[in-house]
Amino acid sequence: MEHSPAAAEKVFGERLELAERYVRHLATSGVERGLIGPRETDRLWDRHVLNCAVVAELVPDGANVVDVGSGAGLPGIPLALARPDLRIVLVEPLARRVDWLQEILDDLGLSLTVERGRAEENAIKRRWEGADVVTARAVAPLARLAGWSLPLLRDGGRLLAVKGASAAEEIERDAAEVHRLGGGAPSIERCGDGIVDPLSTVISVERETRPTGRSRKKRST
Ligand SMILES: C[S@@+](CC[C@H](N)C(=O)[O-])C[C@H]1O[C@@H](n2cnc3c(N)ncnc32)[C@H](O)[C@@H]1O
Repeated sequence: MEHSPAAAEKVFGERLELAERYVRHLATSGVERGLIGPRETDRLWDRHVLNCAVVAELVPDGANVVDVGSGAGLPGIPLALARPDLRIVLVEPLARRVDWLQEILDDLGLSLTVERGRAEENAIKRRWEGADVVTARAVAPLARLAGWSLPLLRDGGRLLAVKGASAAEEIERDAAEVHRLGGGAPSIERCGDGIVDPLSTVISVERETRPTGRSRKKRST
């Protein structure tokens, strides 16, 4: 496992030790229990932890965040370590991943909530709707992700989907469906200048304001 790069101190400040501890968990029990691939251990900082933490640049102060399909806690845990002002819930359907996440959060002393379930389930929607931000990385294609995430957001809230080289293509393919689902025009944001190279690519979609009852056309009687 690599040493923490200099950029990690910039991102995590006095929580650097906790970030290092998280990376150790990923490299050991995370690999043993199948949450992270064994070939990833040499690039945990750049490709996973820092790449996710820099999404913080797009998250407003004090936001309520739902991290959908959190897996090994990505991007939710690096985000929480970089931004203690956020309230974050990690949504993950697989029991063994949920168990690992809870163990790691307990060990790090982080008070994030772990919720077992699928983002599209009614129980999850009832409990977590009204979020300011939904984050997701490597969970589903944009349109499907928008279908799961937009109902969890307040009007004006944002889906931040960490994507790779496919971002522009996904937007081209899915923008019309995202609009039908109640999302605004997706944009591509790049984060992490001076921290990660290449920069992290994020698709950002705002949940559009739904019409209120009053503005709907009156039914004729
Ligand atoms: C490829 S992993 C990515 C995990 C993590 N976000 C990352 O970037 O390393 C996809 C994760 O999404 C979860 N997932 C799949 N369908 C989901 C759904 N409908 N709602 C929430 N999570 C889901 C899976 O269980 C899995 O942990």
